[in-house]
Amino acid sequence: MNNSGLDNNLQTVLVVDDALANIDLLKDVLTPTYAVKIATSGELAIKIIAKQAPDIILLGVIMPGMDGHEVCKILKSNSATANIPIIFVTAMAEAHDEQVGFDLGAVDYITKPIKPALVMARVKSQLILADQQRACELIVQERTKELAKSQKDAITMLGRAGHYNDKDTGVHIWRMAQYSSALARAAQWPIEQSQLLELAAPMHDTGKIGIPDSILKAPRKLTAEEWEVMKTHAEIGYGILTVSDTPLFQMAAEVAYAHHEKWDGSGYPKGLKGEAISEAARIVMIADVFDALTMSRPYKDEWHIDKAFSILEKDAGSHFDKRLVDLFISIKVEILEIKAHWDSKSGS
Ligand SMILES: [Fe+2]
Ligand SMILES: [Fe+2]
Repeated sequence: MNNSGLDNNLQTVLVVDDALANIDLLKDVLTPTYAVKIATSGELAIKIIAKQAPDIILLGVIMPGMDGHEVCKILKSNSATANIPIIFVTAMAEAHDEQVGFDLGAVDYITKPIKPALVMARVKSQLILADQQRACELIVQERTKELAKSQKDAITMLGRAGHYNDKDTGVHIWRMAQYSSALARAAQWPIEQSQLLELAAPMHDTGKIGIPDSILKAPRKLTAEEWEVMKTHAEIGYGILTVSDTPLFQMAAEVAYAHHEKWDGSGYPKGLKGEAISEAARIVMIADVFDALTMSRPYKDEWHIDKAFSILEKDAGSHFDKRLVDLFISIKVEILEIKAHWDSKSGS
């Protein structure tokens, strides 16, 4: 390895070869355009790359010990080094060997005898391509982050709109969302589906946007007629959320529609029974009721928290799916951890 005199501003080419004549030749060609590092064996190359990744590697194929194909395999299997472009340099011009190199993830192949102009052109174009690829990846990463944030903001807005007249809504919607995903995991839901439910759950009351304030804010018991209007928030929410056909909003629509359906068929809007009610909605119902029962109580208030659990237990089989209530109780420790986490955020 020759590290001396490397210019920090230059892109680095690592030449890996056991033939000194070859190394000298490539070094002459590439210097001073690039900072050239040398490794005289595959093993040494791996060590050098682990310390500092070069911008590109010119890799000999046949070497004593670890050969070039092996080096390439190791680098491509490690996410930290997988994107370093590798150009194989070999005397073997057989199509088969080229194919092996490409299959292993090499970007190009140079055959000996080395032609300086060709080496420079290939290295330059691969470095430009790698730069462009990095820039594209950065843009994609930024967009993905932006998109995830927009999605979360949209969920928060819809969630808050649905709980506009409630206290402590910012915390309620995300806390009950975490109870929901914890229960979904306990019910053996795949992790991605549980995560989707966590994002869908805050929107369960979106339909309350469509309920007049005179009913939503009524400081008294609702009349039978007003109660009928209030109940329409489930279908209104479904109507709003089902406009999007993405899995997230489809799940949110399903939850909004059925989050007041009860296991024994006494709920609304359809009076669905048992497993005819979507499991997502059955989960969210438990999480939402538990949070409503405990939301103004600090997690250390064991009496009220135990009372909330016993209310769920009492109504298991009538309001709630008993299997899900049992599971919810079985993950009490996790539920209280979630509650403690949010309590600390809201300062209660
Ligand atoms: Fe509701
Ligand atoms: Fe709620």
